[in-house]
Amino acid sequence: MLTALPRTSLGFFPTPIHALPNLSARLRGQGHGPTLWVKRDDQTGLAAGGNKTRKLEFLVADALVQGADTLITVGAPQSNHARQTAAAAAKAGLKSALVLRGVAPADRTGNILLDDLVGAEIFWAGTRPLEAVAAEVAEELSSRGQRPYLIPLGGSNPIGAAGYVAAMLELVEQARDSNLHFDAIVFATSSGGTQSGLALGAKLSGYTDRVLGISVDHPAEHLVPLLVGLANATAQRIGAPISFGAQDFEVNDHYLGGGYAVMGEPEREAIRLCAQAEGLLIDPVYTGRAMAGLIDLIRKGEFKAGQNVLFWHTGGTPAIYAYARQLIA
Ligand SMILES: Cc1ncc(COP(=O)(O)O)c(C=O)c1O
Repeated sequence: MLTALPRTSLGFFPTPIHALPNLSARLRGQGHGPTLWVKRDDQTGLAAGGNKTRKLEFLVADALVQGADTLITVGAPQSNHARQTAAAAAKAGLKSALVLRGVAPADRTGNILLDDLVGAEIFWAGTRPLEAVAAEVAEELSSRGQRPYLIPLGGSNPIGAAGYVAAMLELVEQARDSNLHFDAIVFATSSGGTQSGLALGAKLSGYTDRVLGISVDHPAEHLVPLLVGLANATAQRIGAPISFGAQDFEVNDHYLGGGYAVMGEPEREAIRLCAQAEGLLIDPVYTGRAMAGLIDLIRKGEFKAGQNVLFWHTGGTPAIYAYARQLIA
């Protein structure tokens, strides 16, 4: 079904899966915690990697089919999606324009530095709605003779979500080849493309265990209807006769902390623990929050001894440099 969609190669797949024995042991303590594994989508190979590489393989292909020469997208100042989109554009021989919230910070580090290195044109939106500014930028580029292709926040539309349908099929095949069974898959969820793609991939491949999104910014009551709509639209797009309801999505919104991109002590602890136990870098906004949630759930006994829990690392590590002052010991 997925083979019907055009796709451009932008990364290295399958991404590796490996055990986290030291982290598992530390969290297990005297209790009976699970065995932790990680799937390394931070290692997709495109400008510091991340989950957006998978979505962009389908989005860039669609842009090329439509004859576009410039990718436009929107995001937060430290958007990983914006950085990956700009890198994908560079690799595909396209231009990129990024509409970022707020004003240019004095210290252009982390993802903003990488945006610049890969040649993005950045438009700062101030407090205006990002989509409205992106529409104006598209008009401006068109008047310059460019042919823009607009990618929504997080690349989360039915074309982008197809990337995580493919990702789930990839995981199921890796697990089968290594004779592994994952009782739960845990990851950061925000704009919905990752989780709805995984949910559709799970139905297509017969994976029936937990697919648990730790929400980074939205209450579950807002996110779940969005996931249902996106998963249904993605199924339709790829021609899969599958439909979704709210019961198909598990979202935990207990770890929203101080809000989007506000790093608190749980994220800081998770980042330093993963780095010191495993040499594994996670980020302050997405994977740090999801890992902090997973750590808390393990400490509360949510997972049992003998269970295998897969943390799907969705990337974001360039942002650690923008949080250096808060992260350092
Ligand atoms: C590092 C990282 N992890 C997870 C996510 C969440 O993915 P999604 O927006 O598909 O829910 C994002 C989205 O920007 C991200 O940058």
